[in-house]
Amino acid sequence: MLISGAEIAKKVHAETKQRIDALKSRGLTPGLAVVLVGDNPASQAYVRAKDKRAAELGIHSLKHELPASTTQEELLSLVDALNADPALHGILIQSPPPPHIDEPAIVRAINPDKDVDGFHPLNVAKLALDDPTGFVPCTPLGCQRHLIEAGVQTAGARAVILGRSMIVGKPMALLLMAKGPGGDATVTVAHSRSRDLPAITREADILIAAIGRPGFVTADMVREGAVVIDVGINRVDDLIAPKGYRIVGDVDFQNVAPKCSAITPVPGGVGPMTIAMLMANTVTAAERLVS
Ligand code: GUN
Repeated sequence: MLISGAEIAKKVHAETKQRIDALKSRGLTPGLAVVLVGDNPASQAYVRAKDKRAAELGIHSLKHELPASTTQEELLSLVDALNADPALHGILIQSPPPPHIDEPAIVRAINPDKDVDGFHPLNVAKLALDDPTGFVPCTPLGCQRHLIEAGVQTAGARAVILGRSMIVGKPMALLLMAKGPGGDATVTVAHSRSRDLPAITREADILIAAIGRPGFVTADMVREGAVVIDVGINRVDDLIAPKGYRIVGDVDFQNVAPKCSAITPVPGGVGPMTIAMLMANTVTAAERLVS
């Protein structure tokens, strides 16, 4: 079974739209600022997709595309201005910024109540502490929603996460091990230094691939009947593709899909769900002001 992120995202957007309309009827329009520093083409595409979707849903959307030469001080003063703007409820600084930027310092400067990415240390702690008043990073939240919507039993299941990033692997592990729907799993986090990766991944009832390497997960690494969530968005050269590249995931889809009970495609899987969760988190930030 193919789990279409695009389809589930439509459902989430419909819910979000209703919440936006309810807020607007109370005189509040949710606002989101999306900031990109530099000219990484993949980041440019993500930021534009986020801004476009926000505008389509009726979220007040502000996009800042800054040159790669932007200094730490300039970026910090933009964050201060966005924190102080009452029309903005969410702030997202696209990661990764250029290497001269101290990203953790920028993230710490964001008002945690506007940190719809869930990257601020206070929100990271709240996730670890099962405190629902924080924000959860959008990609793992989208993966969890995928599993719930597809009716995948996570309780008691063995989940293996490939990748230990702050954006996906670590928060994904916390979500899957938390109590409740989409949780209660037995979680293993494996990564580039893990010994005998295929033996670990073959244990997985649910395999989350978030390692950032095209086609890394091969058929021999996947157990028959496993559920596979492919978080990878990798550009690979393809001379006959219109843009000269094509987007592939971390999973060798063609050979892995026949073994799976369910798998997400790339594109059209986790990507649209990440955006859907960002919109939902932004609306949550606005709702917290009036409830
Ligand atoms: N880069 C890759 N994924 C994300 C994300 O969810 N948020 C931000 N800010 N940057 C990212």
